[in-house]
Amino acid sequence: MKIIRNALGSVALAAVATIAAGTAKAEDFRLGLITPPPHIWTKAAEAFGAELAEASGGAHSVTVFPARQLGNEAEMLQQLQTGALDMAFMTVAEVSNRAQDFGAFYAPFLADDIDHAGRILRSDTAIGMLDQLPAEVGVVGVAYGMAGLRQIVAKGDVTSADDLSGLKLRITPFDPILDFYNALGAAPTPMPLPAVYDALANGQVDAIDMDAELIWVLKYFEQADTVVQSNHMMFPMVGLVSGRVWAQLSEDDRGMIRDLMAKHVDSTIDSYIENEQVWLDQVRDTGTQYVEVDQSFFGDAVDEWNTIWSEKTSMLDALRQVANDTAE
Ligand code: BEZ
Repeated sequence: MKIIRNALGSVALAAVATIAAGTAKAEDFRLGLITPPPHIWTKAAEAFGAELAEASGGAHSVTVFPARQLGNEAEMLQQLQTGALDMAFMTVAEVSNRAQDFGAFYAPFLADDIDHAGRILRSDTAIGMLDQLPAEVGVVGVAYGMAGLRQIVAKGDVTSADDLSGLKLRITPFDPILDFYNALGAAPTPMPLPAVYDALANGQVDAIDMDAELIWVLKYFEQADTVVQSNHMMFPMVGLVSGRVWAQLSEDDRGMIRDLMAKHVDSTIDSYIENEQVWLDQVRDTGTQYVEVDQSFFGDAVDEWNTIWSEKTSMLDALRQVANDTAE
């Protein structure tokens, strides 16, 4: 936030002008994310900042901090809660650590394919879930994006789920995915994104749960032997604004920020729909061992996950209903 000196140069008056809630004032917002600079989420954050600067006639700007420069997602969520950070594009995984209902998005095979995942995330039910974030987490959820569907990259041959049994398999640190790989009999190893490449390269983990973009762009497949295209879970993202910062914004600024952030966060869904199969085809064309599997590959693990999570959230049934209604 900028301190604006008034005509008399009075610091006290300037401070009053700055903290008056709900009045329009110039802001340089700080937006944090964990993804590296070339990632689709980071590009969307930069495009949002550019459009906000233009739409506000230069009154507002957004400085984007990619690649965990402001800390990991748990730390950034804390900063959003205190108002130390203004905005973030964050995995719904991290949000689900604080608001359990969001775990329902990770129901294995909830979405039939990536287009279907997009329709589920754009549904009124999914968007309505964001209403609980101000009270439960202290943030305003503006819209969903995504990072495609999850796949598995493993050292060694994988022809059945038994081949994953006991493997140290990197997961994003959150409960729904931990429960899934525990049910499968793997040894899920929670690890933040920036640590994954080295961990796979030096054998600290035997396999990773990952999306198509990063498997291809960050060349994870080169550090392993088999890519399993399983499409077993969607991986949503959410655009967040600090509740404290939101409370200080004028109605006009809230509207402008909500519309523009929603536009750019949502655009990531289209990017993944367009590119997911292209990335996977490029991986397959390298000649790496490539296995396509469906739900039956995972045996009882899917049912086991459903049993665990139907007790944790009623939103599982609600999102299943959306999935049925939007299936083709
Ligand atoms: C991951 O933890 O695998 C991840 C996080 C953010 C974007 C994409 C992937």
